[in-house]
Amino acid sequence: MKRLTLFFFLTIFSAITFAEIITLNTPNSQLIVKADSATVPHILYYGDKSANPTELENAGFEAFPAMPAFGMIDMIHLPALQIQFPEGDLNLDLRLADISHATTENAEIVSFVMTDKRHKFRLTLFYKAFKNTDVIETWTEICNLEKKDIVLKRFDSGHLFIDKGNNIWLTHFHGDWAAEAIPVSERLTKGVKTIRNTDGARNAHLDAPEVMLSLDGEPNEACGRTIGAALCWNGNYEIRLNIDNHDNYHLYAGIDPQSSEYVLSPKQTLTTPKLAFAYSVEGMGGVSRSLHRWARECGMMHNGKAVRDILLNSWEGIYFDITEERIIAMIDDIAKLGGELFVMDDGWFGDKYQRNNDSSSLGDWVVDKKKLPNGLQTLTDAAKQRGVKFGIWIEPESTNTKSELYEQHPDWVLQAANKNLNLGRGGTQVVLDLTNPKVQDFIVNTVDKLLSENPDIAYIKWDANASIQNYGSTYLPKHKQSNIYIDYHLGLISVLERIRKKYPDIVIQNCASGGGRANYGLMPYFDEFWVSDNNDALQRIFIQWGTSYFFPANLMAQHIGGSPYHMTGRIVPIKFRADVAMSGRLGMELQPKNMTEQELQQCRIAIKDYKQIREIVQLGNLYRLVAPKAFQVHPEPLPPAEQDIVALMYVTDNREQAVVFAYSLSQFQYQKPQRVKFSGLDPEKQYTLKELNIKAGEKPCTLDGKTFSGDFLMNNGILLPLNGDYASRVFLLN
Ligand code: GLA
Repeated sequence: MKRLTLFFFLTIFSAITFAEIITLNTPNSQLIVKADSATVPHILYYGDKSANPTELENAGFEAFPAMPAFGMIDMIHLPALQIQFPEGDLNLDLRLADISHATTENAEIVSFVMTDKRHKFRLTLFYKAFKNTDVIETWTEICNLEKKDIVLKRFDSGHLFIDKGNNIWLTHFHGDWAAEAIPVSERLTKGVKTIRNTDGARNAHLDAPEVMLSLDGEPNEACGRTIGAALCWNGNYEIRLNIDNHDNYHLYAGIDPQSSEYVLSPKQTLTTPKLAFAYSVEGMGGVSRSLHRWARECGMMHNGKAVRDILLNSWEGIYFDITEERIIAMIDDIAKLGGELFVMDDGWFGDKYQRNNDSSSLGDWVVDKKKLPNGLQTLTDAAKQRGVKFGIWIEPESTNTKSELYEQHPDWVLQAANKNLNLGRGGTQVVLDLTNPKVQDFIVNTVDKLLSENPDIAYIKWDANASIQNYGSTYLPKHKQSNIYIDYHLGLISVLERIRKKYPDIVIQNCASGGGRANYGLMPYFDEFWVSDNNDALQRIFIQWGTSYFFPANLMAQHIGGSPYHMTGRIVPIKFRADVAMSGRLGMELQPKNMTEQELQQCRIAIKDYKQIREIVQLGNLYRLVAPKAFQVHPEPLPPAEQDIVALMYVTDNREQAVVFAYSLSQFQYQKPQRVKFSGLDPEKQYTLKELNIKAGEKPCTLDGKTFSGDFLMNNGILLPLNGDYASRVFLLN
């Protein structure tokens, strides 16, 4: 780390005064912080390496407090931190007391310790800059040194300041259940723009806790200075974007303080969630690639460098209609198709109450002997005999009021005192009180029992289908009821840590009614997430596109669904369905028994071919080549002159191999096909195209076997044969 001492070190009595400039470096970006013991750390610059502190100061760049604290900044500015002290005072008066530096294998960490002049209070602000990717994480530790409780009224994880931004565009991701991650781009205007989520238990369905800022005008996929910010927290959050009275831009991000003021006991420390920034001059694509690498290589997902198995999940094939015969038949089918894992979804459990629909039994994690008279071992044995692994669904954070668990422990669910419960899914679902250590133990023991009694279970799908609808805990004391939203998630993290400690090798999928938990708060404990309950291949192209801005392909579970699709009624050819699923972690989710021989044959081809490319797809660098027209900032006026196609590709780190996926969404006679330019290749290298997942019974297209230089492919592009609706192609380049 480059550390520039500008002024001097001076000792007055025992206090050390200092003023220095600290630069945190990633390979292509830097964060410059002014550190002066007379005040608090100030951000001078975040961007590429073209600037140095002297030039910035000479050019009149302003610096702004890194953690704007109430009482210390002009009241017209938004604070990132506000504390109520025991006597009621809301003002902070912080001074930088110490700076420390630490290094890990792949990062430099600088921490700024600040103490308050009038209160017994310590704030430590951390920055962690990675050596292998252009990501800097920031977070704080808030420590109460008073003898009484203090109340955290605002406690952002971080704040970013951009001096005199001009025409900055925001891209955020808005969506819904079955329609996740739809990018919305807009020019930031004066005032405050707030993005938040108040679901309580999950936070990625409506507005996701990740944003991109395009600093040079309209968002661009391949060029322009771009910052990505991801808040690594699974609970309620708030991201605020503000242009101040000097036309400077601010981004604040942290846990949402609404209904969530945190009461901190004496000597207690709250560590705020990480906020990760990625900076790139290669537009949104560059930011995505840095974040994907960070996820895979910097511990932000479990087992980030592992490639994932190809699976069949039972849900959309048979829903709750589980029987031993059906499950074994499905295991048999995925084995015969060349798959590697079978996952038994919802509907396998319940004793007093059978789980035949979503209105009962969550919490009663015992095998339903009416459906599975020979227990789980018969199933895991059947899987073993056929050479596939076995996985199972659980939803451990919830119960139903119709369950043995609720009958035995009505106090274990979140509830407001003397108020009827608000009920969720199935008219009976309620969320367990994970602030309560007994509930945490119950969940850990449930998973432990399942895995220790069934050592052949290799995969868990961990679902969360309820938001927190009842605000109150029988465990938390009265004066700490407002800690619920945060303590719930701290409890969940502690549960996951305990499970991971004992079961580091189990693959766990993070699911929350589809993609409701697609964020980095919990991903360090999970291997992948279910992208969406909407498994219609056409709609998945959009949902997967939006999700890919922040998440790498090996996190994204993508399954070949049925046709006509149960949710939309859409009939989509099997090759298109497979080609869409193959662009992430491939799986299947339908009843193979209902497929035609031609469909089964196509799946065999897809699975075989995917094995050739999965390492490139799952661990490669993503280039989004052609966005769906609906996602382009200025789509062509209708009727569009060009066919609506979507194309993306993955390239290995050494640029030796790549895989291209291209899809035709619709084609009308007046639309012209477009040439697709590839990206990320070695211009000097010759690449030969090999078509994959060729339509059963057909020959490869004319591009198969043709060789082009990387230079040609990137600068001239080629016409991909995509004739008609739902035409699609997959090419391996090597
Ligand atoms: C949620 C999940 C689905 C499925 C069902 C089971 O909706 O997203 O994939 O597991 O629950 O009830």
